[in-house]
Amino acid sequence: MLVLGVETSCDDTAAAVWDDGTVRANVVSSQDELHEEYGGVVPEVASRDHQRLVVPVVQRALEDAAVDAAALDAVAVTHGPGLPGSLLVGLSFAKAFAQGLDVPLVGVNHLEGHVYSVDLDPPAPDRPFLCLIVSGGHTELVRVGSDFQHDVLGRTRDDAAGEAFDKVAQLFGLGYPGGPAIDRRAARGAPTFQDFPRSRLDDFDFSFSGLKTSVLYYLRDRSDAERERLLAEHLDDLCASVQAAVVDVLVDAVRHAVGETDAEQVAVVGGVAANSSLRRRMEAVGDDTGIDVSVPDLAYCMDNAAMIAQAGAQRLAAGHASPPTLDVESNLQL
Ligand SMILES: Nc1ncnc2c1ncn2[C@@H]1O[C@H](COP(=O)(O)OP(=O)(O)OP(=O)(O)O)[C@@H](O)[C@H]1O
Ligand SMILES: [Mg+2]
Repeated sequence: MLVLGVETSCDDTAAAVWDDGTVRANVVSSQDELHEEYGGVVPEVASRDHQRLVVPVVQRALEDAAVDAAALDAVAVTHGPGLPGSLLVGLSFAKAFAQGLDVPLVGVNHLEGHVYSVDLDPPAPDRPFLCLIVSGGHTELVRVGSDFQHDVLGRTRDDAAGEAFDKVAQLFGLGYPGGPAIDRRAARGAPTFQDFPRSRLDDFDFSFSGLKTSVLYYLRDRSDAERERLLAEHLDDLCASVQAAVVDVLVDAVRHAVGETDAEQVAVVGGVAANSSLRRRMEAVGDDTGIDVSVPDLAYCMDNAAMIAQAGAQRLAAGHASPPTLDVESNLQL
């Protein structure tokens, strides 16, 4: 089955061609430069850029895959959660494209897309498995069963892990998105330089807003000269310290959940799963506990349409095609 995946939930315009489990093309056009000067995504700017990019990005995916549109069997598209204006561009395009080709349309939950990104790198974990979704907008620990049953064990009560990286990076003057910049600098720094808080809640919920506030106060409570010196001489150490605080919390939560649920397989997905320290530490969890740990290829951690096609194809196989009245659901949950 040949499936076109379309993803426009936030600031990346993405299209992919999926061929029975093989990704034949995966095109992502990032708008990072457009939003960098504002320190975050500007919804109006994002949707206008999706309008400009969606057709060329889909064309490019079809070309890369050497596939004629007429050969497609289905179109899978993200219909939530995300920015309403951004989602609407992808969904309107996908509806029209599917109708023109007379093939089924299937709406995909962006978070389910992240979960199913683990299946893009064989071997796919058996169900049920424990999945940590860590991205720019979400931090959730989920038990993924068969038949699209997702049992949410816990989620963040305030900021997402990626949001914490982005906000701290902003305080450090590192631009947007902040995660990759902090990761690069942290590789050269000392994680023990500053002990930032690791908030541990009773259940499987997370909280990252205290970390951002702690970094804010750490910088604010110093003289201008001292702050400048710290940022000039110890930025790598500060990045390593912040990264260690986030990663410690995530890894501890997974270890705790493995103990409580007898999970035999664990996956970590979403943009923050690209973090090199988190990837290493999760590998170590696998070595210590003997459970299988899956972290998708870097290209499938960040927003992409291959994961949307993967989830969409599985939904279609289970008979879940969407009606032409499918609408965007900006607050859609798992
Ligand atoms: N190497 C990295 N280390 C830490 N964080 C990273 C890294 N690479 C990307 N990120 C973070 O990942 C986030 C982007 O992930 P993703 O694209 O999945 O989020 P999103 O789609 O905006 O949100 P959601 O999936 O929750 O709707 C950003 O917050 C970014 O800073
Ligand atoms: Mg995402």
